[in-house]
Amino acid sequence: MASEGKVVSLEELKQHTSKDKLWLLVNGKVYDVTKFIDEHPGGDEVMIAEAGKDATEAFEDVGHSDEARAMMPAMLVGDFGALDELKKGAKQVASATASNFEGAVQSGSNIMYFIPLSLLVAYFAWRFYSSS
Ligand code: HEM
Repeated sequence: MASEGKVVSLEELKQHTSKDKLWLLVNGKVYDVTKFIDEHPGGDEVMIAEAGKDATEAFEDVGHSDEARAMMPAMLVGDFGALDELKKGAKQVASATASNFEGAVQSGSNIMYFIPLSLLVAYFAWRFYSSS
């Protein structure tokens, strides 16, 4: 097999995410499912949705049969060489989302201080001017 021993990078994986060029990462290996996609009993959309990332969980959750697994070596492109990179990327996305959330809470609570505080100031100003 010509592709034997090939190591696929994250960049390459992300270059094959369309219906006419689709690679899937399952259990640390990358498969070219382009020709299979129209025959996939689970449909094309689920496969396209798993492109460019680790599809292992989605693949295993379905409980694919031994027959399904037996088809996979024929589609093998090679080993995936960037699992750590992929995980790191996912973590970065998660922490970016977390800090966005913190930012929103922070600016929200500033307004929550500002509104009662300005009401209080207005109240004392009113008392001061109406009593004099
Ligand atoms: C190289 C990768 C894949 C191959 C060779 C493959 C092959 C197959 C085969 C042969 C079946 C028929 C049932 C069986 O034998 O288990 C099936 C069903 C199914 N596959 Fe995949 N599959 C792959 C990837 C995926 C992925 C990434 C998903 C994402 C969710 C997926 C979702 C499904 C679903 C939902 C079914 C069930 C369809 C039904 O029973 O109505 N498959 N697949």
